[in-house]
Amino acid sequence: MMRVFVTGGSSYLGRHLLPLIPDQFEVHTSFYSHDSLNYPNSHQLDLRDETAVSKCIHAIQPHIILHLAGSNRPSDMAAVIRDGTKHIVQAAQKCEARLIYLSTDSIFDGLSAPYDEAAKPNPVNEYGRAKADAEQIVKTHDNAVIIRTSLIYGLEEMDHGTRWMREALQNDNPITLFSNQLRNPIWVNSLSMACIELFDHQFGGILNIVGNQVLTRAAFAIRMFDYWQISNRKLVTIKNSSKNNWPLNCQLDNNLASRSLKTPLYGVDEVLALNKRA
Ligand SMILES: NC(=O)c1ccc[n+]([C@@H]2O[C@H](COP(=O)([O-])OP(=O)(O)OC[C@H]3O[C@@H](n4cnc5c(N)ncnc54)[C@H](OP(=O)(O)O)[C@@H]3O)[C@@H](O)[C@H]2O)c1
Repeated sequence: MMRVFVTGGSSYLGRHLLPLIPDQFEVHTSFYSHDSLNYPNSHQLDLRDETAVSKCIHAIQPHIILHLAGSNRPSDMAAVIRDGTKHIVQAAQKCEARLIYLSTDSIFDGLSAPYDEAAKPNPVNEYGRAKADAEQIVKTHDNAVIIRTSLIYGLEEMDHGTRWMREALQNDNPITLFSNQLRNPIWVNSLSMACIELFDHQFGGILNIVGNQVLTRAAFAIRMFDYWQISNRKLVTIKNSSKNNWPLNCQLDNNLASRSLKTPLYGVDEVLALNKRA
């Protein structure tokens, strides 16, 4: 039986993806501070701890490692993303596992979209720099896939960004939605199925896995507000961003993924129509 090890099973993506993995795989997963998974093979693991990562993965001997764990906390972002990924790559090399890594559209400066898989990263913030460095580390492993993705959302559990904005509005804090930042949000179910499809797929290298529809962050947020019935919008401002530490246009070209994978990469409006509430 093929063994899969999923780092960050407790992440937003991991919580959706793990239940979708077919029974033909023996699944192991890791969490750091939230053991909400109730999985028999769930391991507490700090990716910054090289010895712990090595021991954990040596004991599992996975055929496939899906590396989802990360951090956007300034205090440990670099250590979790860069060092953690280095430790995962070292362990993957030792047990000759196939490695699938989740990267981001935030590795780009947003000035020359659309970006295909050959586009060179030029990050403009710490998160983007750490993820771009992690990509370079993953590239040193022969059997690796780097998935570049965009805003991840679902219709059963609210995504991080929408939850943060709902909380701000509930606390009477103003929020600003940017009308000049372009992204291709991806439905968490599509991204999960695409990751699983890649477990025993022949594809290697970088793959842009994003939804088919390009939206401004403001237009995406409004769709999510409508879906989640967040109606208290008095303190919402929509305007252009003038900050230079968040890239403006991060549109990714997903033609290669659409040709290579069976999983459909629906746009937001298609997902909302497919899941229309009764
Ligand atoms: N969310 C998005 O819109 C988006 C967009 C582009 C790319 N991505 C990438 O997709 C992946 C999943 O994103 P997500 O938003 O679903 O993640 P998330 O919900 O923020 O979860 C982060 C995960 O990393 C784990 N983690 C944090 N610190 C750790 C440490 N020191 N050692 C081991 N694990 C640690 C957390 O474990 P605990 O919860 O147990 O502490 C959690 O499972 C990430 O690599 C992210 O960069 C996400």
